[in-house]
Amino acid sequence: MCSALPALALALALALALLQSSVAFVPIGGGAATHVSITGTALLQKLTETCKAVAEASGHEFNPTGPSAEELVQACLGPTAPGEVSAAKFRAALQEVYVQNGMVDRDSVASAAYHFNSEAFLEGRGLITEGVVSIKFNIQKQEYQAARVTLGRVLHTLQDFYSHSNWVELGNTEPFANLIRPDLPIENIYSSDCASGNCPNPILANILQENKLTSGYMGTLSSEKPKGKCSHGGAGDLTSAVEPRGGISKDERRPGNEALHDAAVTAATSASLQLLEDIRGAAGNRDFLRLMGIARSAVVCFVIDTTRSMADDIAAAKEMVYEIIDSKKGTQDEPSEYILVPFNDPGWGPMNRTTDPEVMKSEISKLKASSPGNTDIPEMCLSGLQMALTGAPASSQIFVFTDAPAKDIHLKGTILALISSTKSTVSIYITSPRRRKRRSVKASFNDYTDLALASGGQAIHVSKEDLPAATEVILDTSTSALVTVLQRSRSSGSETFTFLLDESLRNITLYITGSQITFTISNPAGVSQSNTQLSGGLGTIQSVGNLWRIRLDDDKQTGTWKIQMASAQPYTLKVTGQNTITFIYDFVVPFGGPHPGYAPITGRPQAGRPAMLLLSVMGRKGPASVTVGEVGLIPVSRAENVSRGSTTDMGNGDIMVTVDAVPHGEFVVILTGTDSVSGSQFQRQSTTQMSVSKVIVTAAVDSSVEPGQTLSIPFSVMTEGSGGPCSINARNDKEFPMTFPMNVPLTTGQYANATLTITPPKDTPSGTDVTLTIMAKTSASTDSNYAVLRLSVVSKITDFVRPTCKVDRVGADDCPADVSQCASFRWDLSANITDGNGTGIDRITLRQGNGVLSHDALTHLDIEASYNASCCSQIVGIVAVDKVGNVGSCYHSIALPTIAPSVGPTPTVPGGGPPSLGLARPLLLLCLLLAALIARS
Ligand SMILES: *[C@@H]1O[C@H](CO)[C@@H](O)[C@H](O)[C@H]1NC(C)=O
Ligand SMILES: *[C@@H]1O[C@H](CO)[C@@H](O)[C@H](O)[C@H]1NC(C)=O
Ligand SMILES: *[C@@H]1O[C@H](CO)[C@@H](O)[C@H](O)[C@H]1NC(C)=O
Ligand SMILES: *[C@@H]1O[C@H](CO)[C@@H](O)[C@H](O)[C@H]1NC(C)=O
Ligand SMILES: *[C@@H]1O[C@H](CO)[C@@H](O)[C@H](O)[C@H]1NC(C)=O
Ligand SMILES: *[C@@H]1O[C@H](CO)[C@@H](O)[C@H](O)[C@H]1NC(C)=O
Repeated sequence: MCSALPALALALALALALLQSSVAFVPIGGGAATHVSITGTALLQKLTETCKAVAEASGHEFNPTGPSAEELVQACLGPTAPGEVSAAKFRAALQEVYVQNGMVDRDSVASAAYHFNSEAFLEGRGLITEGVVSIKFNIQKQEYQAARVTLGRVLHTLQDFYSHSNWVELGNTEPFANLIRPDLPIENIYSSDCASGNCPNPILANILQENKLTSGYMGTLSSEKPKGKCSHGGAGDLTSAVEPRGGISKDERRPGNEALHDAAVTAATSASLQLLEDIRGAAGNRDFLRLMGIARSAVVCFVIDTTRSMADDIAAAKEMVYEIIDSKKGTQDEPSEYILVPFNDPGWGPMNRTTDPEVMKSEISKLKASSPGNTDIPEMCLSGLQMALTGAPASSQIFVFTDAPAKDIHLKGTILALISSTKSTVSIYITSPRRRKRRSVKASFNDYTDLALASGGQAIHVSKEDLPAATEVILDTSTSALVTVLQRSRSSGSETFTFLLDESLRNITLYITGSQITFTISNPAGVSQSNTQLSGGLGTIQSVGNLWRIRLDDDKQTGTWKIQMASAQPYTLKVTGQNTITFIYDFVVPFGGPHPGYAPITGRPQAGRPAMLLLSVMGRKGPASVTVGEVGLIPVSRAENVSRGSTTDMGNGDIMVTVDAVPHGEFVVILTGTDSVSGSQFQRQSTTQMSVSKVIVTAAVDSSVEPGQTLSIPFSVMTEGSGGPCSINARNDKEFPMTFPMNVPLTTGQYANATLTITPPKDTPSGTDVTLTIMAKTSASTDSNYAVLRLSVVSKITDFVRPTCKVDRVGADDCPADVSQCASFRWDLSANITDGNGTGIDRITLRQGNGVLSHDALTHLDIEASYNASCCSQIVGIVAVDKVGNVGSCYHSIALPTIAPSVGPTPTVPGGGPPSLGLARPLLLLCLLLAALIARS
């Protein structure tokens, strides 16, 4: 069926649509294909293959209902998590890779190596090699965000090779595998000058004749280039006016170069697939999926005070955590990961993270109230929280249990910066504060309230007896598709809030914190329930400590609801539900240069100018199934109308929002729209509060650092407020030694440059990810801002030799020719695996096939692996990874040649290594996808 022409044509159209519908952030060109579309095509294809292999190995069917990211996640996790699964983390992970890919055009615009310009082939390959090593170590240490950042950047450089060199002009259709194989040479680089000095464009004839590799010279500041060499070309390249004029870059699809541009795009896509396959090999299927945010979305992180005074509270907290783990186990809401950070005085950590609920229970059971517990010494709560914020994935739910104000309150600014850059939600359970002598403690419990509110969480005061009753809140928030409809806080007074509940929203819950509160909720039909009616016409009301929780009945009315609040004390209100319709966003700034684009801001957006957000909306059936109405910014703590933004559709569910009148103080993002599946209107709100600043801090890290080495990071500070001294405070979460100026003098409107150095100790394990916060505060206006950077510590490696895997013997004679009879027969195979004189094999895993794999001890020099499977599982893929992440693999298929192989790698690859992938593969994949679709409908 796949060979039918109409299906192919349709698949081709789909492939083109996929290529065209992406944000033209930073192109290989400004035309149809961009770095984003090439990266997206490769990632979606590789992830689809991986999901399919995982499904097959666990005996599930893999049937996405369509090609969107949302449907891929649903199909990939569906069998293990029936019900709806949010694609927000997947979309955020994709976006992160895309954006970082584009950042290479901002941060390293003038560097030849990052773009394979000016024949910097070895340097360019060096960046790719170094990056891939770093990615593999990061994945091993579960530092997925750091890995994604590097992945985006490495893919940019790799893709640029095909646009900026003459690889495709030389007639190559396959990628240049040596770029990701540091064990193979790069030779045959064009080195002689053009004899006549007057060479025809676009490619010097003799370069092609001699089959030499070259790339275009790029000069953004100077028009100099070596005699006779080619230019990159384009308006930003000053060398392109010098003979030989023009340029060989295939960045854009222009009249006359369509074929070369398309060939470059195809090769760049295949090359991206090869690189992803190598990373997948080292990571394993499940971690490769987690790298890209494909996991049940809830990550639950507990930060627990273990000072002696907490003894009873720890017991209560333990009970609570056990109950949470047990009640979620095996359900669609089971967290994909648990994280635990203990803290006391004077210590905190270590952080324990696990995907196994039983391991987390055993870790929690080991917690003991330990430290001196001098009753008037508050604890290192914020240090523990910092560890959780930097160690947990972005958008995690973090729960803190303590009974004392934070001793390390000087970290408050850092914590606020980390909250806004990670968008994690922090809820703080403050058990009955113990009586204390007033010592020189600057902190108060209000600091906790500030932090919780800034993150969209709550500070809950509760006695230890009541702690179990507060468990419900954690159960509510650790679900696979939590969305916020409304969140507000007020210092006191009466006010009526309205909110829109859509048809598909489930498990709608309102939370109110505060004391001496009265409220009345009304549905669109006018039915109401007040705080005195614990069980009324609309739902069930519970209260514990300063928290009210109102769970609306399942048969709620859709439309505009109201809640009328009155209190003489400060209060907060939050309305949440479960649904897959949601959005993710980043505040961005545009950047110029030869390849302009948008860069995400890690600090606060600049005051006095429009705020720009890049926002992606997820619908139930992909972005096409929602229509966005209004997007704007709204203060959480003041009654004010929404500051509406103007929207530009960037395609593929991505929207650029520009808000001219940014609210003063703290604000959040609010969005309304229509779900075309149900025809219902919806409202969603972001949880993390943000504000603008006149101070700007910019900094970028574009490389990893070796243990024991010092890395210099230049940064700039600017203010549009009044000048004068600006104090600098930098911190890193690993407490590595740093140097930086304490003060930088500022002149209004001018960037001041400074340098920070950081030196990870010699014994830092490879793959360690450091989060660095640089904070700047002007003394004149007390305005402040920050930049948050991530840095990987990676040891230099010299072993680039891949393990080899050779199929030695296959016993498939028992398998019947008639595949329908396969179930009662088995086949087996053995393979020889060795790492030669490399670092040694670290792990041997199954890439494909659902049989049983066993092997000799990994300490053997030559390892024999045996595989035994049902005759129904016809393809096996075995992967061997050495201690530094080099990957070797072997495949075998017992399928008869007439049967089309599955989408996985082709069976016969001598000597391991990923098979080469041509254009045929994406088409085959789309074709299979379509066939699946047609078969279902
Ligand atoms: C957490 O992990 C570390 C190292 O893996 C271990 O030493 C420690 O006992 C674990 N448990 C707790 C509660 O810290
Ligand atoms: C959410 O609602 C569904 C039914 O709509 C119910 O089965 C499920 O238990 C609820 N989840 C929670 C956490 O209450
Ligand atoms: C919001 O806008 C409406 C009319 O558009 C206006 O009547 C009202 O006063 C505004 N509210 C605030 C708090 O600005
Ligand atoms: C800081 O560096 C930027 C470029 O990196 C430069 O344009 C600017 O003039 C420098 N500022 C000072 C005060 O040296
Ligand atoms: C595998 O190893 C065995 C024993 O070392 C050897 O006899 C055999 O020739 C090897 N096969 C391959 C394909 O290298
Ligand atoms: C072992 O490594 C050395 C270099 O370190 C290399 O020259 C040699 O060829 C390698 N031997 C094998 C069998 O791979």
